[in-house]
Amino acid sequence: MNETSSNSRGNNLHQPVFLEEAVDGLNIFSGGTYVDATFGRGGHSMEILSRLGFDGKLIAIDKDPDAIEYAKALNDKRLSLYHGSFSDLSFLLKSLKIKKVNGVLLDLGVSSPQVDSAERGFSFQTTGPLDMRMNTSTGQTVHEWLKGATSLQIEKVLKDFGDEKLSSFIAAELVLRRDNKDCNTSKQFPETTSDLADLVFDVIDGKRKRHYYKTHPATKTFQALRIFINNELEDLKDLLEQIPMIVSHNGRLSVISFHSLEHRLVKFSMRSRKAQCNNYSAHPKRLGFFSDQDTVKFPTCAIKEIKKIKPSRENIQRNPRSRSALLRVGEIICAKQE
Ligand SMILES: C[S@@+](CC[C@H](N)C(=O)[O-])C[C@H]1O[C@@H](n2cnc3c(N)ncnc32)[C@H](O)[C@@H]1O
Repeated sequence: MNETSSNSRGNNLHQPVFLEEAVDGLNIFSGGTYVDATFGRGGHSMEILSRLGFDGKLIAIDKDPDAIEYAKALNDKRLSLYHGSFSDLSFLLKSLKIKKVNGVLLDLGVSSPQVDSAERGFSFQTTGPLDMRMNTSTGQTVHEWLKGATSLQIEKVLKDFGDEKLSSFIAAELVLRRDNKDCNTSKQFPETTSDLADLVFDVIDGKRKRHYYKTHPATKTFQALRIFINNELEDLKDLLEQIPMIVSHNGRLSVISFHSLEHRLVKFSMRSRKAQCNNYSAHPKRLGFFSDQDTVKFPTCAIKEIKKIKPSRENIQRNPRSRSALLRVGEIICAKQE
């Protein structure tokens, strides 16, 4: 990950979900070191900074170069910014010579500026390129991936990450249009978000013969492609495995998740202290803290769920994005304290 320095930029804002509740969950003390692993537009980071003393520290990470660019304007000595994936957090801390932090906050999913910028390609409400990458500096766009994927690969992504029941029909139509160059412009391989939304609408509408939809028929397809192209679930799984090793005894993890695949991973990571201790995959050697030759005794640590909060009616009225949100707070418990 690259550290960045300060400067100012526009104000595409994001209304944070569970702002106070998630930061309360970190149980902040003034001199502690905390990580906001999903900086976005800094709503949670600002709240953390407001509760830290002059000797506290906040490490903020985001995959999106725009988020980091925006963060530079904050210009707070206690804040260090890193562009990269939170799945590399243990390596980042190692490079900073920080063994343990006091808490980590994760607010998953996409930020409003990402969804609202047509050119980022996240939304079927606006016309933009089929991109959907959070990290625009690396990796394949959705369009590039669709151009090379097989029908089965596309079907699997739509099914696994979107639970799309008509995944095989959508995949078949995409591959048909890609491989048979049809002169009919309305039947061409999608180049934009609107083209893809129209294709999915036509496939689903044709199969279901229904003309009223509570949500746009392309919702699940867009969610699935976004999760896949950004490696979202693998990144989350990786970080959750690292947490017991990099957060101190009695430290906290606050996670805001937005769909069932994320909810399940977070729940599992905090499920049973005993089960986790016995099936412990975040071994310090695996995380690169020590070489295979080192014989070091490590405390067995795990995350214990201490709070789960669903949005209230007022939360949802104030911020409709919170509709599907779930906040889980976990405390890190180590069998032997250091
Ligand atoms: C919901 S927004 C966070 C909003 C933020 N809490 C705020 O108050 O402004 C999620 C952010 O996490 C970032 N993100 C998602 N996955 C990531 C990952 N694996 N590593 C780093 N950042 C990630 C996205 O780019 C996005 O900016």
